[in-house]
Amino acid sequence: MSEQRLPPPHGGTLVQPMADAARSLELATASRDWPSWTLSHRQLCDLELLLNGALSPLSGFMGRADYEGVLDPAMRLADGTLWPMPVCLDIGAEAAAGLSPGDPLCLRDPEGVLLAVLHVEEVWQPDLEREARQVCGGPDHPGAELILRGTNPWYAGGRLEGVTAPSHFDFRALRHTPAMLRQELERRGWGRVMAFSTHNPIHRVHVSLVRRAARQCDAAVLLHPAVGMTRPGDMDHYTRVRCYQAVLPRFDDDTLLSLLNISARSAGPREAMLHAIVRRNHGCSHLLVGPDQEGPGADGDPRAAITLLQRHEDELGLRVVPAAEQVYVHDQDAFLPEDEVPAGARAERVSGTHVRRALPEGRLPPAWYTYPEVVDELRRTYPPRQEQGFTVFFTGLSGAGKSTLAQVLLVRLLERGGRPVTLLDGDIVRLNLSSELTFSKEHRDLNIRRIGFVASEITKNRGIAICAPIAPYDGARQEVRQMISALGGFVLVHVATPLSVCEDRDRKGMYAKARAGLIKGFTGIDDPFEEPDDAPLVIDTTDKTPGQCVRTILDFLEQEGYVGQE
Ligand code: PPS
Repeated sequence: MSEQRLPPPHGGTLVQPMADAARSLELATASRDWPSWTLSHRQLCDLELLLNGALSPLSGFMGRADYEGVLDPAMRLADGTLWPMPVCLDIGAEAAAGLSPGDPLCLRDPEGVLLAVLHVEEVWQPDLEREARQVCGGPDHPGAELILRGTNPWYAGGRLEGVTAPSHFDFRALRHTPAMLRQELERRGWGRVMAFSTHNPIHRVHVSLVRRAARQCDAAVLLHPAVGMTRPGDMDHYTRVRCYQAVLPRFDDDTLLSLLNISARSAGPREAMLHAIVRRNHGCSHLLVGPDQEGPGADGDPRAAITLLQRHEDELGLRVVPAAEQVYVHDQDAFLPEDEVPAGARAERVSGTHVRRALPEGRLPPAWYTYPEVVDELRRTYPPRQEQGFTVFFTGLSGAGKSTLAQVLLVRLLERGGRPVTLLDGDIVRLNLSSELTFSKEHRDLNIRRIGFVASEITKNRGIAICAPIAPYDGARQEVRQMISALGGFVLVHVATPLSVCEDRDRKGMYAKARAGLIKGFTGIDDPFEEPDDAPLVIDTTDKTPGQCVRTILDFLEQEGYVGQE
């Protein structure tokens, strides 16, 4: 590798707007009467990168002129510097109403620690639809969701004064500010460094790709995975980092692993450019860019990020290394770029997304795809289905038989043994968790959300949760499904006993009272039950014994692999 100096930061200098100790003390004292804003996870990531220089030359959250300039196709800050996407502080209407230019705003972490003071220069209401269009290409792009539905309606821009850097207690030895990383790269004598950015685990194909590319451009390698806020479906960073550590010895010696607390936005090519600037600020001279890096392009062109970055290579001050797609060639037991595959050879490809989606189901990638040490790490997080937690969620009218089936299922699972099982029956929850709640739609939704939260904790910790509320509204059931399926199994059972049968049973005399108008808003009488269309099990208890119904459920659980065959 040839000796060379590291590229200077974007804009010329590393801008780290941290106050010194004396000024921090002054700010902490003065800030007692100042308004505060509690930062979200995404905002914490942005603040950390603003304070440590990773977003140089920005010295604060963008004002309106920078914001508008960045959204334009030319992608420029007001001073003409190339910049691809907004870095703004979004705040709620109430917070915005109390702020005027010149005001200080304390930025705090969720525990209330003062991290920085924003000297507010402007407060305005952005056109988020326009932002989504300009940044991602339209409202249907995967990155648009975060802009349109994950952003507060007002922006506050201004200069920052950092008081304390956001703290991390995990993997501290692997976290470096740009200044620390530059120092380390210089200490190692690395002048040409190619960054590899990812928010997935690294498998054989990536090792092959990175090693080849680094050799071609005669550069050392910085494995620089994003470990900030992730997008739904991304793997948790603890598992990923253990996988990166496990795979590190597979790389050449001049390879360094460092974690980057950047939030993933899936915004596409413009986000890939932001990543390029961040990498340059960390001292990298090259960036490996794959197809659909940081999300697809607006027109679906997988090379859009590569094309955009190459067009601005000189200003970015960093060479773009396009990642040639590689396939596995069975005869050679190796990954090769597609155009190097010998004619007639058996070649195969597995998409990383496919592998990631299969993991929660306990399915691991084929042996040739990854390394045993990575499989070991993935197994720890994604054990076979029989060792994963799951939730059986009954929904149905009052008197449909939910509680009886839930109780029988509970004892059947306890008889089998070996797994902790918790029953969250509607009535029991109402007595303990939700005693203050009524049967209004709002309160029923809250009740279901609480049940979902407890069930998700149980599922995460590999237990079995059985829930049996009425759960009449589809929206709340969907929320619970989302909460739980990322952590283990979720099986919705619709106990579809007809209303007439439930009413005939009327075990608690509630239907009679509801018909007489003594109870208002009773499900099935004068409040709706939205029938689910996503329940794999629909059980009418009219002519079946509880034992028969529960057998059907256990058969399904066995078939899906959540419990062993009896
Ligand atoms: S919900 O809608 O899921 O929050 O309801 P849940 O917590 O399961 O509570 C249902 C039990 O409360 C009794 N009850 C009512 N049910 C429906 N509508 C109204 N207005 C109502 N008021 C009281 C009823 O007995 C339900 O018990 P189950 O066990 O379902 O028969």
